[in-house]
Amino acid sequence: MAEAKPTVELRKGINGLDKVVLREVKGSSVEVYLYGGQVTSWKNNHGEELLFVSSKALFKPPKAIRGGIPICFPQFGTHGTLEQHGFARNRNWSIDDNPPPFPASTSTKTFVDLILKPSEEDFKTWPHSYEFRLRVALGPGGDLMLTSRIRNTNSDARPFSFTFAYHTYLSVSDISEVRVEGLETLDYFDNLKGKEHFTEQGDAIIFESEVDKIYLSTPNKIAIIDHEKKRTFVLRKDGLPDAVVWNPWDKKAKAMPDFGDEEFKYMLCVEAAAIQKPITLRPGEEWKGRQELAAVPSSYCSGQLDPEKVLHG
Ligand code: BG6
Repeated sequence: MAEAKPTVELRKGINGLDKVVLREVKGSSVEVYLYGGQVTSWKNNHGEELLFVSSKALFKPPKAIRGGIPICFPQFGTHGTLEQHGFARNRNWSIDDNPPPFPASTSTKTFVDLILKPSEEDFKTWPHSYEFRLRVALGPGGDLMLTSRIRNTNSDARPFSFTFAYHTYLSVSDISEVRVEGLETLDYFDNLKGKEHFTEQGDAIIFESEVDKIYLSTPNKIAIIDHEKKRTFVLRKDGLPDAVVWNPWDKKAKAMPDFGDEEFKYMLCVEAAAIQKPITLRPGEEWKGRQELAAVPSSYCSGQLDPEKVLHG
């Protein structure tokens, strides 16, 4: 029998939109839509979906796809003058056939490189030239790695500043069974309380109502523990100091036309981000921001997950 090989294929997705499908030999896979440069599926070796995409997601420009990993650029949320979360998530990206090389240490061969450049229309709302290169990679063990490289290509001397997030919708069995570790005792802005500044108490974070917080200067490793599934998502990040945690809960869920009324129970957004201190690039400068996700079985010790293993293992 011929040896299975990792594959990278361009396919037609929902509503005829182009998508790229990455597959690894052990069975894991990733789908990326060119619309938004958005990952919409990440499956483990058993074919289980690890990301949440709403059953009501539209897959129709100009609306951003509700779920997966939308890219928030050049503005996160309403922290600026642009539309909520910026425009990168509702632009058509292209496949980048000739990206500048990565360091040799990033050795996985199952990846796709995408690129976004401004259109003349974009220039009217954000008058800057840039090249945004996104590499979406699937590791041999099924890890999902996103690397963004953003370069200021303004031909005059103008710098630009931006905020950024990988708006990651994780699929969970039941939000009441989920706990987040790695953000305890940190400072955060609460979007539900007029962006007021608070400090988290010592306990791991659990979910009993709507949450919309921006944790500041967080550790580079966050664990999202799904007790019912006995699964832990480990999120590692680099170049992205902040982390957003969002669940709309019942009232806001009902107010979103592209989100099911009960779907808040089955998702949690945890987003590697740079929000508090915008990134500033001078012409010719490049910024790099990386998010890696792994899904591992939770290990229990007398009913308790061993946080040491997850966070420091
Ligand atoms: C989160 C924000 O990241 O995204 C929330 O913190 C926002 O405030 C949510 O409601 C969803 O945003 P949108 O624009 O995709 O509906």
